Amino acid sequence: MTDFEALLKRPDLVWMGQNTTHLEPPPEVIAALLESTRRREFQFYAPALGLAELRELIVADLGLPAGNEHCTAMITDGAVGGLYHICTVLAPELSRLITTDPGWPWPGRFVRLQGVPVTAVEAYSAEAGYKLTAAALAAVIEPRSLLYLIDPLNPLGSSYRRDELEAIVELARAHDAMVVHDCTYRHFADGHTLVAGLYPEGTLTTYSFSKWLGLAGLRLGAVVGRPELLGRLTETPSAPLGANISAQRAAIAGLRVKEPWLRELRRVNARNQQIVTEAVERTSFGRVLVRPSHGNFLAVDIDGSGWTADQVCAALLEQDVFIRSGTYQSPAFGERFVKVSTSVPTAWAERFAAAWMDLN
Ligand SMILES: Cc1ncc(COP(=O)(O)O)c(C=O)c1O
Repeated sequence: MTDFEALLKRPDLVWMGQNTTHLEPPPEVIAALLESTRRREFQFYAPALGLAELRELIVADLGLPAGNEHCTAMITDGAVGGLYHICTVLAPELSRLITTDPGWPWPGRFVRLQGVPVTAVEAYSAEAGYKLTAAALAAVIEPRSLLYLIDPLNPLGSSYRRDELEAIVELARAHDAMVVHDCTYRHFADGHTLVAGLYPEGTLTTYSFSKWLGLAGLRLGAVVGRPELLGRLTETPSAPLGANISAQRAAIAGLRVKEPWLRELRRVNARNQQIVTEAVERTSFGRVLVRPSHGNFLAVDIDGSGWTADQVCAALLEQDVFIRSGTYQSPAFGERFVKVSTSVPTAWAERFAAAWMDLN
């Protein structure tokens, strides 16, 4: 695993490897953190399911469509805390977890701990649109499967259209399968459909403050669902003593200024994706796989370059540019691509571009 502690000791490092956001945060978020600290809120436990205002703001932010009127959110220690809890609670009744390769490996590992088999459907192909197709899902789905659907898909940047989700949901419904719709990167997407809008009775939606609001180190996320589903998770909450209370104050402040913040964030993200793409094109060393990416990252295929993904990352790290090797997220294709995060200062994207040119 990447040694983050060692990286933290490098003050000049450009952080383009974790899909985290490194822009100047909204002043309201800083003020909320300072105020929470001044009031010594860190001396208290938060409510087990999170502050009521935050829970409501998250549901409102998702804008869940009809069929989800009674949806609520439970606050978790990052989205990953929610995913761990979902996997722990549901594992005993699951026949299989289905996800993609490339994808995000942790939920698969969590259910495997409890003996649930995992199928990672290969999604690294232009024909498949670099995502899970209904046809590929049909070949592996079985009764009581859990589909872990990352959308937008980290690390490729693809996202699912409504008609694609409808076809996926039809299969899920026919097999009495559940869907966990991982919406960690939703705020970066150009148009995004919630599976919960199509299949409210079988979908849990996971939500993160790490990426769009840049609170990764504060560890805050949520799981959203209808009472009959969420109730199974809240019966024994994952954080019975509450998630980080100051983080919750910061998240409330961020949600209140969401519109202007997202406008600026998405502008910078798009600009940086352009800088990264141009650098890649100019060197003819690699190619960006999905353009535009619906996430705050780009996957760059380096097949045929004579380099492995790990070698490329190591070479960039020597120049103080941290990007991620595909090997973290793809047993089948990991050596063929690297991932570059783009919700960062534009000066960092330019440093990436210069370092990339030096690879040749
Ligand atoms: C697909 C996906 N889900 C969940 C997470 C974890 O999010 P959080 O920081 O909210 O725990 C990540 C983080 O990279 C991710 O890529």
